[in-house]
Amino acid sequence: MMYVTRRECFNAAHRVYNPKWSDKKNNEVFGACANPNWHGHNYELFVTVKGNMNKDTGFVVDLRALSVLIKKQIIDKVDHKNFNLDVPFLKGQMSSTENIIVAFWEQLEKPIAKLGCKLHSIKLQETENNVAEYFGGK
Ligand code: NI
Repeated sequence: MMYVTRRECFNAAHRVYNPKWSDKKNNEVFGACANPNWHGHNYELFVTVKGNMNKDTGFVVDLRALSVLIKKQIIDKVDHKNFNLDVPFLKGQMSSTENIIVAFWEQLEKPIAKLGCKLHSIKLQETENNVAEYFGGK
């Protein structure tokens, strides 16, 4: 089994806050991330697929095709957008990095299977110091 990763970059705004809580509690828990007037990140997205190498190409997947797929399913919907307001598949959810990648998984899993490989993991780097990675499931 071989693993191949494609990186894509985008930027987006969000506010991490729980609408059931007071402003005071949101500030205590989320700090600057709860700023009512939003803030943004330059995100780096790493999509790893697994599969066997094709005998004719030596590839697990055509990375150009994978890039086109990620752009269509994810980047076009989130780049220069606000996660809280503009992204239908995140509606009503906390825009934490963890929730974002679970939602990305649902957008990518089936289309990636059509490329002849399997989605293995999604990693999202929100800042140089904060990264979440998801392997599917609970
Ligand atoms: Ni943030």
